[in-house]
Amino acid sequence: MTRHVSVLLFLLAAAAPSADAGQAADGLTDQQRLGRQTLSQACGVCHLPPARGARTYGPPLSMAATGGNDDLMRKVIMEGTPRMPAFKYFLQPAEIDAIVAYVRTVPAPAPAAAAPRGDTRQ
Ligand code: HEC
Repeated sequence: MTRHVSVLLFLLAAAAPSADAGQAADGLTDQQRLGRQTLSQACGVCHLPPARGARTYGPPLSMAATGGNDDLMRKVIMEGTPRMPAFKYFLQPAEIDAIVAYVRTVPAPAPAAAAPRGDTRQ
């Protein structure tokens, strides 16, 4: 009996953190969560700033990306651009859909942050 109780306590302790992180905290669906994970693995190197406010090689991805056009975003991800690789042989269609679903939950950056006044880009 004592042994069962301690096994149960161990299981509860082990399960608790993931239950917290998986639910309530971010309010994302499973699909959006898959998208966030896939994005950080496949796209983060160019699209996610390594530190707050740091510049990235690719533009920030948010609900405003590709003018809010989901089909266009899928096409960019599948075909790539002159400066971005194509992902159609690397990601499953469901993973691409999940990325689009997640990116649409990301608030657009404030215009001031995207193009600071007096910014002289080269
Ligand atoms: C090697 C760096 C690199 C990687 C990796 C990369 N991108 Fe990009 N991405 C870019 C660049 C650079 C652009 C800007 C388009 C251009 O200049 O050709 C871009 C543009 C985009 C755009 C269009 C943004 C807009 O509003 O027009 C989307 C959407 C996008 N990327 C999504 C992704 C996703 C999703 C992934 C991962 C599956 C990814 N990218 C991986 C470099 C990258």
